[in-house]
Amino acid sequence: MAFDDEIRAQLVETVHRFVAEKCVPLEGQVGDEDKVPGSIVAEMKELGLFGLAVPEEYGGLGLDMETECLVAFELGRTSPAFRSVVGTNIGIGSQALVLFGTQEQKTRWLPGIASGDLVASFALTEPEAGSDAAGLKTRAIRDGEHYVLNGTKRYITNANVADVFTVMARTDPDTPGAKGVSAFVVPADTPGLSVGAPEKKMGQQGAHICDVNFDDARVPAENRIGAEGEGFKVAMSVLDKGRLHISAVCVGVAERLIREMVNYALEREQFGKPLAEHQLIQAMMADSQAETYAARCMIMDAARRRDAGERVTMLASSCKLFASEMVGRVADRAVQVFGGAGYVADYGIERFYRDVRIFRLYEGTTQIQQIVVARELARAAQKGEL
Ligand code: CAA
Repeated sequence: MAFDDEIRAQLVETVHRFVAEKCVPLEGQVGDEDKVPGSIVAEMKELGLFGLAVPEEYGGLGLDMETECLVAFELGRTSPAFRSVVGTNIGIGSQALVLFGTQEQKTRWLPGIASGDLVASFALTEPEAGSDAAGLKTRAIRDGEHYVLNGTKRYITNANVADVFTVMARTDPDTPGAKGVSAFVVPADTPGLSVGAPEKKMGQQGAHICDVNFDDARVPAENRIGAEGEGFKVAMSVLDKGRLHISAVCVGVAERLIREMVNYALEREQFGKPLAEHQLIQAMMADSQAETYAARCMIMDAARRRDAGERVTMLASSCKLFASEMVGRVADRAVQVFGGAGYVADYGIERFYRDVRIFRLYEGTTQIQQIVVARELARAAQKGEL
């Protein structure tokens, strides 16, 4: 839905207040307890956050990409674990259904995903297929009106609380690479599907990733999303959008860290004056601001182009590449401006430093984004479009 400016501003302001008043005070607790409180999840449901990207006819807000990114900027202004609660429902867990699902699949799953009563998760990565996603080995072998799934998915966000998975599996074992892959919507209570224990991670405590195992899990053929052999393209299309969303979250975190470092630099005095008056500190603050602003502008441009119907594969990867690296640099500078206090847990800066590291890895590493951008450039040049 294309929002008028007033409604859009109200929504962004509401999320801004929710983040500032409800999430920020709980950051330390979430980090220590590795859990986002149920009361926060309930408020997220009330605000409609789970359904940001689900069309209105299925109970969501049906935001356009530009507005979704504006909301993601705000969600980024606190520990990323909060965003992760709703992240898979907004993005990679729901979008295969939104973009490629049948009417029946949408009607069955999207209302619950939009309300947050169902948690949706995206199962692509495997122990031996990370960046080389088309090398996935999980099989889905047709048996009458079912497919029988066998294999293991790895590091699957929100798997431990998921009600439904988008699963990419190989329907044609004789066809290697992308062409043998199909996508499925798989309920978490399917017999033969089991979820492993959450992994211990470097950061983002409160957000969980687990293995998902398929042991002769029978999935009705009607649960296939898109045509047989088209599952890799389904996954990549979902990731095009997801990468833009993650980029916007990176900008939100960077803006939060800039606020923290500037406030600290104004208060803390060394050599007889506030840190903020020392030019080497000013350089760190200014570089952080300029890079964050650049990322924000890129993301807005890419989002608007996607809303206008343009293919944004290269732009989404450019945004993810720049924004995730940028927030890593900003977090590093924030630690530097805080000095010793930046390394001490009480100030929360070291937690952000750990939290942002994953942005350069998930939904495609920096190196994968570089590959995508370079390939898209070559394709455009070959078509005479550069
Ligand atoms: N949209 C639609 N179709 C696409 C596409 C896109 N963005 N990108 C590729 N395709 C199509 C191609 O056109 C091609 O189809 P044709 O043969 O018909 O032309 C097919 O898909 C295969 O594409 P490639 O030949 O480019 O495939 P590849 O094997 O060379 O690699 C890749 C592509 C870009 C490296 C891809 O594997 C990739 O993005 N890897 C990273 C995977 C990734 O991001 N994983 C993150 C997992 S999710 C996650 O992290 C979330 C979580 O839970 C934490």
